[in-house]
Amino acid sequence: MGIEQTLSIVKPDAVAKGVIGKIVDRFESRGLRIAGMKKIQLSTADVEAFYAVHKERGFFKDLVKYMSSGPVVAMVLEGENAVIENRIIMGATDPKNAVAGTIRADFAESIEANAVHGSDSDENAKKEIAFFFSKREIL
Ligand code: CMP
Repeated sequence: MGIEQTLSIVKPDAVAKGVIGKIVDRFESRGLRIAGMKKIQLSTADVEAFYAVHKERGFFKDLVKYMSSGPVVAMVLEGENAVIENRIIMGATDPKNAVAGTIRADFAESIEANAVHGSDSDENAKKEIAFFFSKREIL
């Protein structure tokens, strides 16, 4: 616990809707600092590598297609218990189950186009941050 870093991705549906700023505000208002940020178009190969853990899942092909369908915004969020805090702010994976006031309840379209991604553990956060950012891009 203590001060942690975690990876957040504003997914293509939320970028296309023009709610990047509203989503960033949710993090900053709850005390998470933006330590790194970039807008990036992921290739099919990028998404396959990033979500490799899900490659046997039935939804994998659609997930790859969707996540490479338009630009995303990747962020390093930093703060007290950042991994769990980010997951609380995001809400449940399926927006139908997301608590009111969470990002997914307010902005997600579906379980696939669910507005944001967040690392699920400190260990994965380190790997996912390294996937998107070099050391000099995290300040
Ligand atoms: P994310 O937190 O980015 O991690 C994996 C993603 O796969 C998840 O959000 C969803 O966007 C997607 N996902 C998870 N479960 C399903 C599912 N049952 N059907 C479609 N997409 C899913």
